[in-house]
Amino acid sequence: MEIQVLDKVFVPFISRERIDNRLKEIAQQMIADMNGEVPVFIGVLNGSFMVISDLVKHYTAPCEMSFVKMASYIGTQSTNQVNQLLGLDIDVTDRRVIIVEDIVDTGNTLVALKKLFEQQRPKDIKICTLCLKPEAYTKDIPLDYVAFEIENKFIVGYGMDYDKHGRNLPEIYQIKEQ
Ligand code: IMP
Ligand code: MG
Repeated sequence: MEIQVLDKVFVPFISRERIDNRLKEIAQQMIADMNGEVPVFIGVLNGSFMVISDLVKHYTAPCEMSFVKMASYIGTQSTNQVNQLLGLDIDVTDRRVIIVEDIVDTGNTLVALKKLFEQQRPKDIKICTLCLKPEAYTKDIPLDYVAFEIENKFIVGYGMDYDKHGRNLPEIYQIKEQ
């Protein structure tokens, strides 16, 4: 069913069930990759609050968790400047870090995040994102865990917003072309 968020119409795109199935597969892959070591999950606020919450429920091995807050978007347009609004509150030196993003678009946020974490010399940094827009992604940072590769259209829900609205939608919706 179509929904309206502010002035735009969106159509159902990725169901709750498909999301959860992919997160479960990815969590199991992560457990294998961590090989008994205890990772620090870093959720990138605001957008990743639902994905990290559901992902770690499937991560059935010891782990730690923290959050950073970055913002690069105004409305539906990415800006080149990425602002850090809430910094890292834990020491990740020699730790295995798994950054959890809602969506990687241009990759500007990711570049800023990697810079922030590399200062502390973690053992390694893995990147997990719920969605990737390959046509928009112009950076060469490898993405370790991608749940869904999607076309370059604006989406909302499951943590992602359109002008601050729609984050509470339990599944992902895509903008409807008029
Ligand atoms: P990037 O820096 O261009 O890669 O943008 C990454 C951030 O922009 C994501 O973490 C989201 O918060 C936001 N973003 C990118 N694409 C979308 C979208 O289609 N809908 C909602 N937010 C998006
Ligand atoms: Mg985000």
